[in-house]
Formats: sequence, C-alpha cells, structure tokens
Amino acid sequence: MSGRTDQGVGSVPVASGGFPLAGHRPAVAVQRLAFFERVRSEGPVLRLRMGRTPTFLVNDHLMVREILGDSGDTFARGQFFSKVRPLVGNGLGSSDGAFHLRQRRMVQPAFSHEHPGYDVDALLGGIKTRVESWRPGAVVDMAREMDALANELINTALFSSDKVTGDADTIRDTIADFIAGVGVRSVVPSDLVDKLPTPANRRFIRARDRLEEALASSINRYRTDPQDHKDILSSTVAARDADGRPMSPGELRDEVLSMLIAGGDSSGHALGWAFHEISQHPTAARRLREEFAEVLEGRDPTMRDLSRLVYTRQVINETLRLRSPGWMDMRRTTRPVKVDGFAFPAEAELLTQPHRPAPATRPSTPTPVPSTPTGGHRGTPSSPAARCSCPSARAPVCAPGNRWPT
Ligand code: HEM
Repeated sequence: MSGRTDQGVGSVPVASGGFPLAGHRPAVAVQRLAFFERVRSEGPVLRLRMGRTPTFLVNDHLMVREILGDSGDTFARGQFFSKVRPLVGNGLGSSDGAFHLRQRRMVQPAFSHEHPGYDVDALLGGIKTRVESWRPGAVVDMAREMDALANELINTALFSSDKVTGDADTIRDTIADFIAGVGVRSVVPSDLVDKLPTPANRRFIRARDRLEEALASSINRYRTDPQDHKDILSSTVAARDADGRPMSPGELRDEVLSMLIAGGDSSGHALGWAFHEISQHPTAARRLREEFAEVLEGRDPTMRDLSRLVYTRQVINETLRLRSPGWMDMRRTTRPVKVDGFAFPAEAELLTQPHRPAPATRPSTPTPVPSTPTGGHRGTPSSPAARCSCPSARAPVCAPGNRWPT
C-alpha cells in the first residue's frame, strides 16, 4: 500500500466525461473499457455521477485487490447483481455472506485439482476432437473455436451423462442468447424490455424458457438417480451442508446457471486471447513447444502435469493480466470502511477494472505476475489463491478451483 494520508472521499475528483443530466451512465454503459482506460490516469479513486448512490471508480490495483479479496462482509456484491439476481438466481456468482459460504463449501469438492469431480478424459477427448478437425493449412477463427470449445467443455464438466437425453445440448444451444438478454436487462428494467416484441427479446424469452426447462429436467434426473456420473452436477447433488442437508432443486438450478455463465465465455475468451498473444510472440510459442515436449514426452497431459507446466501457466497468467475477460467488477460497501487512506461511506458502489500496465511497460514475453488483482488475495500473492484455476479474488471464498474455504 502507498501509506497515503487519510482522506474522506468528499475531496475525491469527479472523473471527466460525464454528461450534464445523465452523468457517467452513458460512458460506463456504452464506452465501457475505453472510458475506464481514458480516466485511469486521473487518480487512484474517482467519483462517478451515477444517480443518487455514491459511486466510485477504483483505479489503484492494490486497492482493487483488497476490495475484491474481501470475503463479502465489508464489500458485498454491487447494484448490478441486485438487478440480475431475479434472472440468474442466487448462485455463487451473485450470492453473499453465510449463504454464499454454505454453497461454496458444497460446490467446491468438484473442483479439487487432486480428485476433480468431472471426467478429465472426457474433457481431453473433446479437445482432441476439435483440434483434429483442423486441417493443415486451413485458416481457423480461433476466437470462435475457443468459445465453442469452452462452452462444450463446461457442458461436459457439468452434465456428462445428459448427452443422451438432449438436455445438455439444449442448455449449450440456449445459454449464449440467455446471457445476452440478461446483459440488456441489467441496464434496462426487464418488465419494460420483455413487453417489446423485438427479435432480440423473442430470442431471449425463447432461450430462457427452453433453458429453464432443460435445467429442471436435468436436475430432476440427477436427483432421482444417485449414481456418480463423474460430473459437477453429480457432485453438487450429492453434497451436504454442515447440517446434513442437500441443496434444493432451486439452489441447484442457481449454482448450475452461475457456473455456466461464469465459466463458458470467460474460458473461451481467455483461450482465444492466449492464442492471439502467442501468435504475436514467436519466442513464447517456441518455449511452449519445448515445455510440452519435455514434460509430456509425446503423451496426453494429466492433471498431475499441470504443476510442471510452469511456463504454460505463466503464459495463461500473463494473458489474463493483459486481456482480462472481465472489463469491470463491482462491490458495495456494507459499512463505512477505509481502504488505503480513502474513507468510503456505507452503501457506496465501487467499480473496479482489471489491472493493465501502460503499453510501454508491457513485457515482450510472458512473465509471472503475482500481483494481478484477481489472481491472488489480500497481502499474500504467493498463497494458494494465486494458484486458483479460476482467477477470482474473494478470500477466503474465492473461485471454486481455489483452496477450501475456512
Ligand atoms: C479463464 C477462465 C476464467 C476467468 C478469467 C474467470 C474469472 C472469474 C472472476 C474474475 C471471478 C470473480 C468475480 C467476482 O468475485 O466478482 C470469478 C468467479 C467465479 N467463477 Fe470464474 N473464471 C474463469 C473460469 C471459470 C470456470 C471454468 C468456472 C466454472 C466451471 C468458473 C466459475 C466461477 C464461479 C462459480 C465464480 C464465483 C465464485 C465465488 O464468488 O465463490 N469460472 N471468475
């Protein structure tokens, strides 16, 4: 931390780019990352005019790290989540407090690196089938391929056995339209939008209804069939809380949806950008090939190889730092709180952006970056959280692949 002298946020400068009546809403909703990048140099914390709620953009990455690394007691989910909760439910991606911790403990065993609840061979099979479909010399749109691959893999990891019934296919085919519609409804009231008979609305409503039906049917089948299908849904259905209670069908639906939303696009975008970065850095491409040859010696990778693929991990970490799939995250203060000398009031909305170095300081080849705000947690960059398979913060309750919550 900087050791800044304490200051009330009343003296914090207002970000440039606001409009007379609409304030900064248009900039945040339309210009998004471009707006954040533009105002980044205006100060570590900036005030945004976004209606009556005191709203701040936090630019300082160590402050961001502290805010996102909180367990949810001081910094709860922001306003955005109150808007989307009626649509996406109260899964790990949107819940807070004791309920979040309970759910988290029940979901997490499936994400163990040593004994994953999903079938690693089935995932590997999906990857091989896609890679083998690429013909030598053919031009492949890697962004599209990686999106499709990631959605397929998350589907297999969640519902491996439902391939036969078609529910998994319905879920895979409807999730993108559902997420797009939720995005629109997070900025405009859904009851208003739903009444407009536009093609996009019809697409969303149809996707939502088909998705809900397939999720309900899948969850019902798993609940009535106790066998372990080697997937995340089986593991979550079998999980019991501290009082020995299983999740209700509604809770299961929310968790599955949360994972579908959180896991598909983020992984697809991360992989697409990784290939882009590798294509721009021939030395990195060569070192990756050398590492694969040395560690794998021509065989398929296993979970045990992950810890030995050190350079590969650095490439992924660096890609996530430079090209974070999320352009913004937000929290709401539950009480007055001081972060690095800034005294925020209770009920303030804090917007944070992923940390990116200025272009001139970008390394030309991937390097380990332990200080990535979403990659680790408060004050302990080399802690297990920094080795999380999903780079969420939220210590001690960060993303599912992370350590067991205390
Ligand atoms: C490269 C891929 C991924 C990236 C960049 C990513 C990024 C993130 C980030 C930044 C958060 C924190 C959000 C917040 O605290 O507000 C998060 C949380 C989460 N992610 Fe991921 N994620 C990835 C892959 C996945 C996958 C594959 C899954 C599921 C199979 C997943 C499931 C979740 C869940 C459930 C949460 C909420 C965790 C909690 O608060 O307890 N993510 N992810």
